[in-house]
Amino acid sequence: MTSPTGSFAPSVLFVCLGNICRSPMAESILIHKASKQGLSISVDSAGTGNWHAGDWPDPRTLQVLDENNIPKATKARQIKTEDFDRFDYIIAMDKSNYNNIVRLPGADSQKVSLLLDWNPATEGMEVPDPYYGDYQDFQELFHILDTAIDHLISQLKPI
Ligand code: 4NP
Repeated sequence: MTSPTGSFAPSVLFVCLGNICRSPMAESILIHKASKQGLSISVDSAGTGNWHAGDWPDPRTLQVLDENNIPKATKARQIKTEDFDRFDYIIAMDKSNYNNIVRLPGADSQKVSLLLDWNPATEGMEVPDPYYGDYQDFQELFHILDTAIDHLISQLKPI
C-alpha cells in the first residue's frame, strides 16, 4: 500500500455483474469518504458483464446517492485484463462475481477479494443483487456498502 517514495495511494476497483447498481454505488461512497478523510485512493468500478456498458447507474442507485448527498459515479464498463495491472485491489460484490473475475484470462487472483470479507462480522457473506428488487433494497444496499467501506478504509490506511 505504501510506495517506495512513502506516498499512500492505493487503487481499488469494485466489481459487480452489471456495473449499474452495486459497484457504482460502492465507488461513489468510497470516493466520497476518501475525499472527506483526506485520503488519496484511486477508485473505479466495472461489471463482469457488458450488457450495460456505456449506461449511467440505475436510477435507484442515483436516487439513493442523491439522498445521501454523494456525487454519482461514472458510466458502466466491463472489467478487462489490464485492470489487474492498474488496480491494487479488485473487490467483488458476490461469489459469482468473484469466480468470474478470477477465471478471466490474465487474472491475478491474489488481488481479488469479496467486499464483505473485509469486515470479520460479515466474512463469507455477499452483497445482495438489488436489480430485481424495490427501492427499499437499494436503501438497504447503501447501508451495507457504507459499513463495509468503513471497514475497507480502516485496513487500507497506513498503520
Ligand atoms: P449490479 O446489478 O450487478 O449490481 O449492477 C445488476 C444490474 C443489471 C443486471 C443484473 C444485476 N441485469 O441482469 O441486467
